[in-house]
Amino acid sequence: MNPPSTSAPSSTAALLRKIRLSPHLLSLLGLILFVVVLYDEENKLGERLAFAIGEGEKDCDIFQGRWVRDESLPFYEESDCPYIQPQLTCQEHGRPDKGYQHWRWQPHGCSLPRFNATLMLESLRGKRMMYVGDSVNRGQFVSLVCLLHRIIPENGKSMKTLGSLTVFTAKEYNATIEFYWAPFLLESNSDEALVHRITDRIVRKGSINKHGNHWKAVDIIVFNTYLWWITGLEHFKILQGSFEDEVKDIVELPTEEAYSLAMESMLEWCNKHMDPKKTRVFFISMSPSHKKSVDWGSPPGGNCYNETSMIDDPTYWESDCKKSIMNVISQVFSRSKVPITFLNITQLSSYRKDAHTSIYKKQWITLTPQQIANPMSYADCVHWCLPGIQDTWNELLFSKLFYP
Ligand SMILES: *[C@@H]1O[C@H](CO)[C@@H](O)[C@H](O)[C@H]1NC(C)=O
Ligand SMILES: *[C@@H]1O[C@H](CO)[C@@H](O)[C@H](O)[C@H]1NC(C)=O
Ligand SMILES: *[C@@H]1O[C@H](CO)[C@@H](O)[C@H](O)[C@H]1NC(C)=O
Ligand SMILES: *[C@@H]1O[C@H](CO)[C@@H](O)[C@H](O)[C@H]1NC(C)=O
Repeated sequence: MNPPSTSAPSSTAALLRKIRLSPHLLSLLGLILFVVVLYDEENKLGERLAFAIGEGEKDCDIFQGRWVRDESLPFYEESDCPYIQPQLTCQEHGRPDKGYQHWRWQPHGCSLPRFNATLMLESLRGKRMMYVGDSVNRGQFVSLVCLLHRIIPENGKSMKTLGSLTVFTAKEYNATIEFYWAPFLLESNSDEALVHRITDRIVRKGSINKHGNHWKAVDIIVFNTYLWWITGLEHFKILQGSFEDEVKDIVELPTEEAYSLAMESMLEWCNKHMDPKKTRVFFISMSPSHKKSVDWGSPPGGNCYNETSMIDDPTYWESDCKKSIMNVISQVFSRSKVPITFLNITQLSSYRKDAHTSIYKKQWITLTPQQIANPMSYADCVHWCLPGIQDTWNELLFSKLFYP
């Protein structure tokens, strides 16, 4: 009834007889098998990540290095980039020094490829790149727009904000660079894009699609999430039901566990929606703030205000950046099925107490006479001036995108 099933065993038997008869054939088969395995390995090595055009230097960790003075920087002038939000235009708001703009990151083991705006924009042709996260990530989004917009003619670009989504369009390239506000990645009670100063923060478990539905079909996605998890308390409120429930089912988890829930959800989302052959996923580590001068050995009571030099202790680690959260990140990523390119900017940014916006930004609320008398009291030591350190983060992203 089924001819192959009757003939198969006899041909296999014949083959086995042949093999038994010929030890040469046996070793030949072994050799072929060896070559096939080798070829397969080669193939795996040759399987490049999307967007890659070369390889990074082996054994060079580009996040380990030092800042060197470079007068050819910044890449652009603050006044030449109309997209910088007034919270980050430090010069416009009276910052007297410019030194913070002239530092280049020099890895110990190799050099970073020079940022090439043409290459970046050409690679984004017909594509969408999206930054997802909090206001620090919004700064990095704007930095990339500033790095690229000069090579696009005036009538060939636009920037629009609609709710949580801000979209920069390069028309002739049919390319967009976008920012989506989701400070926890998961749904939370702080998701309102403009009014979100909420002290009693609650995050809803397993709710990544609430925001994730807006990230689908993106070619490069760049996540961050950290600041909002740090409330000064050890525990974080997690909602198990829905925000609409009359009686809310809320549990308090250690911050590390709560953070881990968001990271796992992010990976699941990427697993479902990001094709590793065509797309790339980046995750940026926590951005340090500089709120306590004792951290860097200055007299207590100070912060980033009036700081114009960096911290030169190479082992310096900003106390605001929890090592326990860094551990969660490495544990979660070590189990990831999706290739995630991790931008570990925490240490290199920890040195830069000089690079924050401090008091040189638009103040949304009128300052009181007491505040004016004591600038330290309202200095913003979380966000960063542009141009500045976030251009470096994008250089590192550029490096990992094209030379992973
Ligand atoms: C930048 O990239 C473009 C497009 O790949 C290339 O033609 C150009 O030579 C590059 N410029 C530099 C300075 O490497
Ligand atoms: C423009 O880019 C989008 C992806 O962002 C793609 O779906 C569309 O086909 C592109 N259109 C043209 C005319 O290339
Ligand atoms: C700012 O720092 C300089 C030294 O770098 C110091 O002379 C000056 O008094 C400081 N100003 C204030 C207001 O703290
Ligand atoms: C990031 O870099 C720091 C040191 O610069 C290191 O301690 C930490 O383990 C790194 N994080 C991960 C997840 O690799």
